Amino acid sequence: MSGDLESLNGVGSTTASKLRASGYTTIEAIAVTPPRELMEKTNIGFNTILKIQEAARQMIATDFKTAQEFYEKRQTMKKCTTGSKKLDEILGGGIETQALTEFIGEYGSGKTQICLMLSVTAQLPYEKGGLEGNVAFIDTEGTFMPERVYQIAQANGLDPQTVANNIFVARAYNSSHQCLLIDRLFTMVPENNIKLIIVDSMISHFRGEYVGRENLSERQQKLNQYLHKLVRLSEAYNVAVVVTNQVQANPTAFFGDPNRPAGGNIMAHACTHRVFLRKGSKGTRIARVIDSPCLPEVPARFLISEKGVEDIDQDDDE
Ligand code: GTP
Ligand code: MG
Repeated sequence: MSGDLESLNGVGSTTASKLRASGYTTIEAIAVTPPRELMEKTNIGFNTILKIQEAARQMIATDFKTAQEFYEKRQTMKKCTTGSKKLDEILGGGIETQALTEFIGEYGSGKTQICLMLSVTAQLPYEKGGLEGNVAFIDTEGTFMPERVYQIAQANGLDPQTVANNIFVARAYNSSHQCLLIDRLFTMVPENNIKLIIVDSMISHFRGEYVGRENLSERQQKLNQYLHKLVRLSEAYNVAVVVTNQVQANPTAFFGDPNRPAGGNIMAHACTHRVFLRKGSKGTRIARVIDSPCLPEVPARFLISEKGVEDIDQDDDE
């Protein structure tokens, strides 16, 4: 639902144009943005903002809900296939809408390839495991390859040009730019029937720019703020959000995996599902869900191929 801003109590045409000019073009966006941020961006007084938000929340009913209403909302959740049944299985059926899924892995582990694959599969009809929607792709590392999208689309029997036309790509040059692009999504998503948001990678700019212990808390605060915006987007618009993350060496680990996901607790708490990727033998990849209260932590093996992401042939699967 994204009715006219003017339909909100207390919003006249002047206020509505201020809101629109600052990028808040939908009632949902107004309802879920922190009031201080709305005030700073629109120059509208704080008390007015509070009133407008109250009206917006009533309109989209973000207040207390009954468990039954929650249940019904969960029923509208959709799942997007990764192209590999094995991988879908450990994810509980695919990448969920109303959730953040994080792919973590070292370089070359397949994070970007999975993102590219999902940009194609999200467009498929529901019965083929898609979300029947378009894709917003925030590329922070300059690794989005349109040629690869073409290849994957073609190999899956889809028209590459149509598929490519439904993926909206933005290259983020630094962390503030990345944040700006995430803010833009509040308008982009409803206007363009976006059903999958990808941020590849969520963290690299933050890690590169906020160096040193003294900057860590500022970095984490910003990261937290924007991860939560992504959570709100996923819930307000029934969208799947996929972010990628790197691993960092953990020098204090004497036992177990010496690598751990970057971004600390902030990342761990914001992401609904965390998936660890690593390279296997003969070009295969191994995925494992970590920290999940409901998904099994069994590994899934899959292949990165011309088709994108697919299952390993039974014969090779020992
Ligand atoms: P970083 O972003 O560097 O951290 O790595 P990543 O996890 O995003 O890795 P990425 O998804 O870019 O994986 C790269 C690997 O995917 C390559 O080493 C190849 O093994 C494989 N790959 C990339 N493109 C193709 C392709 O067109 N065909 C096939 N078969 N494999 C590909
Ligand atoms: Mg990558």
